[in-house]
Amino acid sequence: MRQVIKVEKAQCCVFNNQINREIASLNGVYSVNVDNYKNEITIDHTTEVSFEMIAQKLEENGYKVKREVENLNSTEKIEQPEINDPFAVKAKEWDTPMKVKMAEKFVYEMHQNINFSKELKVLDFGCGTGLVGLLIAPLVKNVVLMDTSTSMIEVLKSKLENVKKENVKVINSEVFAYTQNDIDIVFSLMAMHHIENLTETIDHITKVLKPGGILVIGDLKEEDGTFHPEESVAHNGFNISQLSDIIEGSDMEVTKAYVYNTIMKNEKEYEQFILIAQKANEPTEE
Ligand SMILES: C[S@@+](CC[C@H](N)C(=O)[O-])C[C@H]1O[C@@H](n2cnc3c(N)ncnc32)[C@H](O)[C@@H]1O
Repeated sequence: MRQVIKVEKAQCCVFNNQINREIASLNGVYSVNVDNYKNEITIDHTTEVSFEMIAQKLEENGYKVKREVENLNSTEKIEQPEINDPFAVKAKEWDTPMKVKMAEKFVYEMHQNINFSKELKVLDFGCGTGLVGLLIAPLVKNVVLMDTSTSMIEVLKSKLENVKKENVKVINSEVFAYTQNDIDIVFSLMAMHHIENLTETIDHITKVLKPGGILVIGDLKEEDGTFHPEESVAHNGFNISQLSDIIEGSDMEVTKAYVYNTIMKNEKEYEQFILIAQKANEPTEE
């Protein structure tokens, strides 16, 4: 995939070959081109590296990265080039009765295990059009909705225009763009199987959680790849025990994991599980 990052005065900071070396040192970057006339840096890379990681490297080297931030009805948008968005064609038709029902079932299952209350700040990772996050919004103090798909976020933003949720913040970016550690609960429905850099993502989610914070994942159990017949995804569902090992490698304890739903798609059945993990509490002082 390709990112074109606009900077202020590309030639003013360091020599091009130095910044080339610096960015190329990030795992997953395979080509860097600095355009001194357009003040643009074009980076070809795999999903191992995110916009934020590249921007951070540029800033460490004295570049001022132009991040277009838009504040509109408490909606924040970190501008990213429209790259490889597999949800671009699906976004407008996403909210089918089946998807709405799926979100409601996940929310119902979360309620069986978690007490959402007005003191909490929660984050919906891979929020899509907000089917889950907007059901939780009225129950908590703040909701952060994050997704890399600009098209899905556009649909979500159009819903917010009508509803005007003051406690909702939308971020069109990778989770790595969220750098506070003030979240009580992160939840995520059907997004994790799209994530290639799963360990790094879970590690970052652990960081944004407060001590004792909770992660809730709703996703597919292992399937034979037929759930996404037209595209390949990072994971054909998950083996719950292997996923638990990844999560437990990240200062979290999996407290519950079980199958809560079965979806019918193209006359086949697919099981969905819910997994709940808790971040360790800060070590108590003796
Ligand atoms: C199957 S959809 C689920 C959307 C929503 N959670 C729902 O249940 O309706 C998966 C979502 O994950 C998002 N996604 C994929 N990779 C992502 C990443 N690295 N960071 C954040 N979101 C991502 C996609 O853009 C998409 O909106």
